[in-house]
Amino acid sequence: MNDSSNLWGGRFSAKTSEAVVNLSRSTDFDWRLAKYDIAGTKAHILALRAAGFLTEAEVTRLDKSLVELDKRVANGMFTPKPTDEDVHSALERGLIEMVGADLGGKVRAGRSRNDQIATLIRTYLLDESSVIREAVLDLIDVLTTLAQEHLSEPMPGRTHFQHAQPILLSHHLLAHAWPLVRDLDRLQEWKTRASFSPYGAGALAGTSLALDPNVVSDALGLTAPMANSIDATSSRDVVAEFAFIGSLISINLSRFAEEIIIWASAEFGYIKLADAYSTGSSIMPQKKNPDVAELTRAKAGRIIGDLTGLLATLKALPLAYNRDLQEDKEAVFDIVDNLKLVLPAFTGMVATLEFNTERLEELASAGYSLATDVAEWLVKQKVPFRDAHEITGKLVAFAEKNGLELDEVSDAELIAIHPLLTPDVREVLSVSGSIKSRSGAGGTSVSRVLDQISALRRLVPAGSR
Ligand code: ARG
Repeated sequence: MNDSSNLWGGRFSAKTSEAVVNLSRSTDFDWRLAKYDIAGTKAHILALRAAGFLTEAEVTRLDKSLVELDKRVANGMFTPKPTDEDVHSALERGLIEMVGADLGGKVRAGRSRNDQIATLIRTYLLDESSVIREAVLDLIDVLTTLAQEHLSEPMPGRTHFQHAQPILLSHHLLAHAWPLVRDLDRLQEWKTRASFSPYGAGALAGTSLALDPNVVSDALGLTAPMANSIDATSSRDVVAEFAFIGSLISINLSRFAEEIIIWASAEFGYIKLADAYSTGSSIMPQKKNPDVAELTRAKAGRIIGDLTGLLATLKALPLAYNRDLQEDKEAVFDIVDNLKLVLPAFTGMVATLEFNTERLEELASAGYSLATDVAEWLVKQKVPFRDAHEITGKLVAFAEKNGLELDEVSDAELIAIHPLLTPDVREVLSVSGSIKSRSGAGGTSVSRVLDQISALRRLVPAGSR
């Protein structure tokens, strides 16, 4: 016969095969939802009471037992048995052990594990999203502080990984902050969609017991019950969207991680990593490795894998609930766990970066990165940009051929290249002049960076974290 914890004893006479029990069991991973399952059950018994299926005394008894069960789960006194299929069946067994089968057995009325799990994954992710939000805010705070500290220090700006134009280090750092701000916006918008309650949808078609789903939704702090019971039990778009936002966060981290790895190389020498946030080599005593940045970069790959696996599971899945949906959980659990692991380490590494600002400044003008300034200076002398580009191109070619930087070309040579290249052009042949001149919206001038810092400080006030 089936084990007593099996939820469908009535219809079956033969024992479930051990291989099936092993395949079916999800407690190894869904146990982390236990407290959300108990919260759902507490809310559900309120709905059962309101509809007259439980007396006040029964509710009090059940509630007390659920509080106790919650404690036992938290302190590890109550754990799933190998024969419990999932978190729901394990906790139902636990409740029945405490209050007896007569009372405990009433709680299953009007709900299914299908609407239960669809609710729990939402309440769980809503909680975790706040933790992740805080960790991302910490990083935005650190980037803003760093930008403030390095407000007017120049560095080479790149496109195609080639020297392009001089920029401020502060501007570059904040370019890594803004995508994270948008990720938090995404998370906020996701929250409004995630905050609906599938409870009351039953297995797929709703309940005939006249339970008010608002009671559960309110008790769980959600916005409202879902409108369609089939959708409520079978959709996982909210889970996939969370996975996508988590992927974007990790991808955004990985882009900075990649730069940190490159910047820390001897060839670049832009930064030094703090001892506490780097690792050594077991064989090469001289090594200081950017493992934190490398792991951050790798986690993005893994998290993208979680997202694509989940999307593939959802693709072409017919309505309504299918057991395939059980596989949504490990994907997002992995994302949550890894973001919570990576973010504090990455933020700590960024906070303790030591910049070689002299080198950054020295390299800011390398690679003829002031050429655009010359061309724009010519435009201000009313030369059409097309011609300005051509003239500047000639200047760069001359400098390159003669092994000179642009400001090393003599006045006579400038005039010889083109009569419009008067000595006045030297006013833009400096890194600081170039940066100062880029004061248009969103530009790299100190004034525009200060605008960004104040905007970010509205989100993360200084000293607030
Ligand atoms: N453990 C399942 C899940 O995670 C929920 C239970 C629904 N199972 C079922 N056979 N209807 O999706």
